[in-house]
This record gives sequence, structure tokens and C-alpha cells, in this order.
Amino acid sequence: MTSTAPDLFLRYQNRVVIVTGGTKGIGEAIVRVFVRNGANVVFCAKEAAASDLEMELKESGPGDCIYVSCDVTKEEDIVKLIEATLKTYGRIDCLINNAGWHPPEQTIDDTSAQEFRDLLNLNLIGYFLAAKYALPHLRKTQGNIINISSLVGIIGQKHAIPYVATKGAVTAMTKAMAVDESQYNVRVNGISPGNIWTPLWEELSSCSPNPDATIVEGKDAQLLGRMGTGQECGKAALYLATEGTFCTGIDLLLTGGAELNYANKNQQKGRSSIYQ
Ligand SMILES: NC(=O)c1ccc[n+]([C@@H]2O[C@H](COP(=O)([O-])OP(=O)(O)OC[C@H]3O[C@@H](n4cnc5c(N)ncnc54)[C@H](O)[C@@H]3O)[C@@H](O)[C@H]2O)c1
Repeated sequence: MTSTAPDLFLRYQNRVVIVTGGTKGIGEAIVRVFVRNGANVVFCAKEAAASDLEMELKESGPGDCIYVSCDVTKEEDIVKLIEATLKTYGRIDCLINNAGWHPPEQTIDDTSAQEFRDLLNLNLIGYFLAAKYALPHLRKTQGNIINISSLVGIIGQKHAIPYVATKGAVTAMTKAMAVDESQYNVRVNGISPGNIWTPLWEELSSCSPNPDATIVEGKDAQLLGRMGTGQECGKAALYLATEGTFCTGIDLLLTGGAELNYANKNQQKGRSSIYQ
């Protein structure tokens, strides 16, 4: 008998998907999951050179992919990304906004307005612009948008005011877009991951005074006692694009339970309080 493992079933065959920031981390894993499920994927990053991933996945299939150089902070690059997608595959069924960045720890005292604006441009306006230029084509296919947000957009995070603000805005924008696009049967959903082990996480932990301890803390922040994987994000995105046909405006918490339970969160031990 042949295997019927769900992973081998072509759940998005011949559908066309754009993934921003698809060369590493969560984006790369999403690209892999969609190509493995028969999709034609257009993925981008800022680098000019074609990605090795493109060659690897073209050979492995069963779907197809192309790499397009695109800096999502540049509107003209996003226009070219959409044009390249239509030229190569003729349609767009799904846009996955993922390209983003988490700066190293910063307090408000050492954050400039320009740094905040730059992060808004990347993490929020980049998502908005990709949606703006993809939507005329998504309306024709009754397709969908998936915005990779973050759990911290709802629960906050220490020393990350601009990042938290951009992700909170992504989650809110997802809902507003879902409201407006429902008349076209275009679904707009978000995924809010907890800690996912990616090159970004590795880079941020290496900037901390004790990287090993930071990684242990990162794992312990989840009830499940580990970080999530890019592949788990890819599978969640595949669900929203395929079977999740009654989901719109949702914020899928992919967190291993990081938001649950009381824990020791007191940062004021030893300090005097007017309530003592
Ligand atoms: N890793 C986590 O724990 C975690 C948790 C919650 C949310 N997220 C979000 O998931 C997304 C991906 O994070 P990751 O951990 O995989 O990061 P990563 O740094 O490992 O990968 C980021 C990808 O985005 C691309 N990118 C960065 N700037 C770009 C630009 N200006 N134009 C085009 N592409 C650009 C990079 O080339 C890369 O392909 C981000 O939006 C991040 O905020 C990550």
C-alpha cells in the first residue's frame, strides 16, 4: 500500500503564492511547504543574486518557484515583484507577508524617531504595500493574504517598543483589511508566532550577554518548553490558504502556549512602591 501521509498530498497544486522574505527562517520554511504541496511560489529578499533555494526547489518540486530581488521598503520593488509574478505564473492566489526584522533590545531612551520610522516602513508599510498591489489580482482569484505578525503585538515585550508597535499594527491592519475585502471573497488572516528558532533568533541571542542562557529562556517562555519551527509556521500558513475557507480576520496564535498562565513577571523587586 502506498503512504497517505498528508504531507505528500498536493494541497495547493498550481496555485500561485508570493512570500516576502523567503530566503531564510520562517519565510524559507513557508516556501518549502508550499512548493512541496504543488504551489508555484515567488519569493523575495533584498539580495540581488538568485537564491540557492530557487535551484534546489525547482529540482525537487513538485511545485515550482522563482526568486525575485525586492526590498519591501521600496514601493517600486514591490510593484516589480507583483509584475514578475504575473509574467511568470499569470495569477496570484495567496500573498504571505513575512519580511520583517526585530532590532536588538532597545529602551525608549536610546531609540530615535528615525529608527522607529524605518522599522514601521519594513514591518508594517511593506505589508500594506504588498497587499495594495496584490489585491487587484487576489480579487480575481478570490485568493487570500496571510500576514506574519507576532504574539508580542498583543502581550508586549521588554525593550522592544517599536517592534511591538509594528506587530500590534499588523494584527489590527489584518482585521481592517479582512473587513474591506470580504465583499470580494478575499480572506485576510494573520499568524502570531511565539519564539521560533530562526537565523533572526540566533542573531539576537548572540548579541545578548549570555547567549546560551537567552536561548534557554526563549524555550522556557513556551508551555511546550521549546521554540517552534519554521515548518510549523509553514503548515499553519498552508492551512489558512487551503482548508481555512471560513477564516477571515483571525489571528492564529502559533505560540506553544506562551501567552498562558501567570508567571513571575515582577520587574520591581527591591524597589519601593507607594502601595507597600
Ligand atoms: N523568529 C521568531 O521568533 C518570530 C516570532 C514572531 C514573529 N516573527 C516574524 O516572522 C517574520 C520572519 O522572521 P524570521 O525569524 O524568519 O527572520 P529572519 O531574519 O530569519 O528572516 C527574515 C527574512 O526577511 C528578509 N528580509 C529582511 N528585510 C527585508 C527587506 N527589506 N526586503 C525583503 N526581504 C527582507 C530576509 O532576507 C529573510 O529572508 C518577521 O516578520 C518576524 O517579525 C518571528
